[in-house]
Amino acid sequence: MAKKLKVEYFVEPDAAALAARAARHFVEMAEAAVAARGRARIAISGGSTPKVAFGLLADPARPWLKRMPWDKLELFWVDERCVPPDHADSNYRMTREALLDHAPLQPAQIHRMEGELAPEAAASRYESELRNSFRLEGAETPRFDLINLGMGPDGHTASLFPHTAALHEIGRLAVANHVQNKDAWRVTLTWPVINQGASVFFLIGGADKAQILKEVMLGPRDPERLPSQLIAPAGGILTLFLDKAAAALLPATNEQGFGSFEREE
Ligand code: 6PG
Repeated sequence: MAKKLKVEYFVEPDAAALAARAARHFVEMAEAAVAARGRARIAISGGSTPKVAFGLLADPARPWLKRMPWDKLELFWVDERCVPPDHADSNYRMTREALLDHAPLQPAQIHRMEGELAPEAAASRYESELRNSFRLEGAETPRFDLINLGMGPDGHTASLFPHTAALHEIGRLAVANHVQNKDAWRVTLTWPVINQGASVFFLIGGADKAQILKEVMLGPRDPERLPSQLIAPAGGILTLFLDKAAAALLPATNEQGFGSFEREE
């Protein structure tokens, strides 16, 4: 029998409201993980959409900085560009500037991908980092409490780009992935690891994402072209936080901005 994935989506009026919704989600999910398991292991994405949410988390004028259980947090990355950590393209650098420089996190709580290394070495080192942090044995995979994903207008998520080798990697935890049309290397968690997350959400804003979001969520299955279709969390629920522009081509929501549908896997 085909497996079903429940997709739940929350639509905010604009980018600012979307960032606030995401900041609240980070804090609420961290609180829930700490209550259930004593700590929150969170994997975050790069890109422009989370940056605004990270800024809100770090803003002393907002409630989140005080509320976040920082001392119980372990921060990981979903993907990284293969550049040094102070490079303008570095996901670590973006997060450091928006969040880490302003939040009470100790260096030992921050598990970055080492984009400055040779791509394969960076991926292997990250696998070791995950094995040690999660105390994994044998073929065990890490189970993050929360995973934050973005989606590119080409349907990529994490650094799982269309028609790239990493889409076929199911045995490893992290891999190097060459992205031909960017002529660049990335390091990315593999999709089976992402799907193992206790809670996985996409954060997507902007009119340029509306068409691809519709194709990914409602169109025929074609993960080679639409890698975001590989994301189907083991718990059976996928959460999307969207702004109105990105959600324009999905089925209408209720008055509270909530919608859901089921997708066959
Ligand atoms: C990265 C990512 C990537 C990102 C999407 C969406 O390092 O670029 O992790 O997968 O999430 O490209 O990015 P935006 O939020 O900037 O649209």
